[in-house]
Amino acid sequence: MLSYRHGFHAGNAADVLKHAVFAFVLGHLQRKAGPLLVIDTHAGAGVYDLASAEAAKTGEFRDGIGRLAAGAGDVPELLAGYLALVRARNPQGPLAVYPGSAALALSMKRPQDRLAFYELHPTDHQELAGLAAHWRGVSVERSDGFKGLIAQVPPAGRRGLALIDPSYEIKTDYDKVAAALAKAWRRFATGVYILWYPVIERSRIDALLAAVTAAGIRKVYRIELGMAPDAPGYGMTASGVLVVNAPFTLPAAAETALPWLAERLSTRGPMVAEWLVPE
Ligand SMILES: C[S@@+](CC[C@H](N)C(=O)[O-])C[C@H]1O[C@@H](n2cnc3c(N)ncnc32)[C@H](O)[C@@H]1O
Repeated sequence: MLSYRHGFHAGNAADVLKHAVFAFVLGHLQRKAGPLLVIDTHAGAGVYDLASAEAAKTGEFRDGIGRLAAGAGDVPELLAGYLALVRARNPQGPLAVYPGSAALALSMKRPQDRLAFYELHPTDHQELAGLAAHWRGVSVERSDGFKGLIAQVPPAGRRGLALIDPSYEIKTDYDKVAAALAKAWRRFATGVYILWYPVIERSRIDALLAAVTAAGIRKVYRIELGMAPDAPGYGMTASGVLVVNAPFTLPAAAETALPWLAERLSTRGPMVAEWLVPE
């Protein structure tokens, strides 16, 4: 039984980093006109109501997107597209809703792109299916996203981006993400993959990074932002993404954005922007 609901966490600092990178990488890939397949293996509900009981209970979005949405001034390139999409979902001004990965992908979809969403939770699946109902070239399946990823690659046009974003509610997810990424990469080595990870126990992330490296996957860029120093047993203190076949524009954008984000979000933890595995 799945108990994780992203509505409790939507718009938190981890979402800000993940969604900024996702929108940036997708925007980069869309510079070429060719059709793109976007796979969201753990898609969530799509749009999250920030006035809901879930969001109010944790208030996590206030320390994430809540600190950025209203901000004026120059925004680093990594965040500019993402913040514009968040603002577009809140045309009245104040933050009322937060677009998750699937909603961001829908907003950015071009007619030639195809989106494949997987979400197992019945309520979130239903919400997402409703959001995507009238879109052409969008599928929303209530099935296992790890299997869905393998089934989708390689895409016919051989251009694709996959977001692999489990909740890690089940500890086997740490092994599963590495295995699914490696299998997908062997089938489609030129695909772009974004794998999100939470730092709850650093040893699990060290093992995950070692597994990705041992799989022989090349060109893996790692971005991590810590709200606080590592503290095993105290919940998520940091989060990060691995970007396989990272666009050449990503490292400079990440290096500029991280200190900016750290200041706005008042973080005190690790900041990483580096190649885990170079080309
Ligand atoms: C971290 S949330 C996803 C958030 C979303 N990607 C976003 O960024 O807005 C993880 C989601 O995966 C769903 N889930 C868990 N196991 C799954 C699986 N094996 N396949 C597909 N969805 C799964 C959960 O119900 C949850 O909604």
